[in-house]
Amino acid sequence: MSEKPPVQPGTVPAPDSFSIKVSKDGPYIVHGKPPLGTKFIVRNAAGHSWSYEPGQTFEVSEPMALCRCGRTGNAPFCDGSHKAADVELTETASFAPLLENSVAIQGPTLTLTDNEAYCAYGRFCDAGARIWNQVSEGGEESDRLTARMAQHCPAGRLLVFDNATGVPVETEVAPDIGLIEDPAIHASGPIMVSGGIRVESADGRSYEVRTRQALCRCGQSSNKPFCDGTHASMKFQDGLEPRRR
Ligand code: FES
Repeated sequence: MSEKPPVQPGTVPAPDSFSIKVSKDGPYIVHGKPPLGTKFIVRNAAGHSWSYEPGQTFEVSEPMALCRCGRTGNAPFCDGSHKAADVELTETASFAPLLENSVAIQGPTLTLTDNEAYCAYGRFCDAGARIWNQVSEGGEESDRLTARMAQHCPAGRLLVFDNATGVPVETEVAPDIGLIEDPAIHASGPIMVSGGIRVESADGRSYEVRTRQALCRCGQSSNKPFCDGTHASMKFQDGLEPRRR
């Protein structure tokens, strides 16, 4: 790494030993041995995405290669299936900071920014009231819910700023890799990368370092290497764990 990578406001970057390299037409090469396991999206009593429940964990190695074509027979690891698979893995995402292409909605005490291109269809943005409406409510309880929704979005498309300070409402998160399972829609989802792990493109450029990122592992996103929610419509199955709930 030559230049310092761009860092999203509110993000505490992981130590340099952690990184994810997108290999050309191949897997993600993960360095730093972050914990790796399945993460189930759990709904609340009203049926809205509310929290994550950990599932199966995997032994990690240095480095390790995670599948991004969706065809491996050894999930979540690469088994070389991409070489024969008819899947286009070229990166298409912008290197611009997410805020550059975000819309902002200002409420009485908080401001929400949203970059829709990074939607991973986790649906934490709708906990009964949708976050775009909730931010306009104001009040302690409402603001807490607004921040909670943004901080649970697996892809980090949503950021919430405190109007008084101009600082994002964020907490530091330890480096971690979660393989999203979404029983409500009967689909497996992206690789949720938490804790400011730097993601580097095949040509050596760093994407913006963010607290939450969702990397495509179904191979079908139009915003590679990031998830764009396509796994939901194709009902991607990683074959890792039987469905829960
Ligand atoms: S995992 Fe979400 S689009 Fe591929």
